[in-house]
Amino acid sequence: MTNQPTASVRSSSVAVSAPAKINLILRILDRRPDGYHNLWSIMQTVALEDEIRINQSSAHQDIRLVCDEVQLGADRSNLVYQAAAAVLQRAQRKVGLEIDLRKRIPMGAGLGGGSSDAAATILALNHLLQLGWSQTEMAEVAQPLGSDVPFFLYGPTASITGRGEIVRPLFIDGKKWVVLVNPGFGVETKWAYQELAAARKAVRPLASNHQDLDRGHIQWSRVVPAAENDFEPPVYAKHPSLGRIKQTLLDRGAEMALLSGSGATVFGVFSLEASAKQAAEHMTAQKSLKVFVVPTCSGPILVR
Ligand code: C5P
Repeated sequence: MTNQPTASVRSSSVAVSAPAKINLILRILDRRPDGYHNLWSIMQTVALEDEIRINQSSAHQDIRLVCDEVQLGADRSNLVYQAAAAVLQRAQRKVGLEIDLRKRIPMGAGLGGGSSDAAATILALNHLLQLGWSQTEMAEVAQPLGSDVPFFLYGPTASITGRGEIVRPLFIDGKKWVVLVNPGFGVETKWAYQELAAARKAVRPLASNHQDLDRGHIQWSRVVPAAENDFEPPVYAKHPSLGRIKQTLLDRGAEMALLSGSGATVFGVFSLEASAKQAAEHMTAQKSLKVFVVPTCSGPILVR
């Protein structure tokens, strides 16, 4: 019997869940010389998650991405691809990667799905390739990929300033239940910024009750009355159905209801899972809506 040559293909893999975010408060401040706006936000992750599995293969030296969402390109246009390429470039490593992306978070939804996928990819590769990067080093790779990406390295709760790159982790007391209502259409972030800039005469300064929420340990009882999102007037003017979703969530007992990011998702916050589920059941009667009931996340993204 002759010895058959065996292909020695080494592989190791890692899996990571990429959570969605909601903006509990979102203030859009002045426009900067670089065209971006300074913003001030409190962001919170919620347990609606995309799944990413990355396999390191010695059989090739490319990044090969597959994605179960047909509307999303599995090529260089995908933030997961861009994040992986940026990590390899900074680490000066040439390795084969097979990445499987399973989308659950609606897209163009104000839920940060693409940004979270990018951050999760950076965290996963830091682990898989044993790069030993600090959060700051990962954030340097994250920031050019999109304004929301660094937040996901520091979640579950943080205040965000600058164009989104200055992230201060916060601790918020207790878990809440969140009903996410997505209308099935998207809002383009760039359009929302333009509408807002065109509609307002002056930028309202940051209120003191917001500044006070910028540090340490914060309470839901103080966040709820301070909830607001500067994108609501222009986005609701264009899409009145979103304003009606907000009102329905409040009528159904939400402690607060708000547009997330530039939309189009509107969310309601509840203390009790049963109340959240009842409100969600009412909303699902409208077949065009995608409705999710999820708890707020309590920890950072876990690499398995
Ligand atoms: O950084 P990101 O790709 O998420 O931004 C999308 C668009 O939103 C930018 O091109 C810009 O027009 C606008 N934007 C902004 N100020 C920010 C974040 C985004 O004007 N802080």
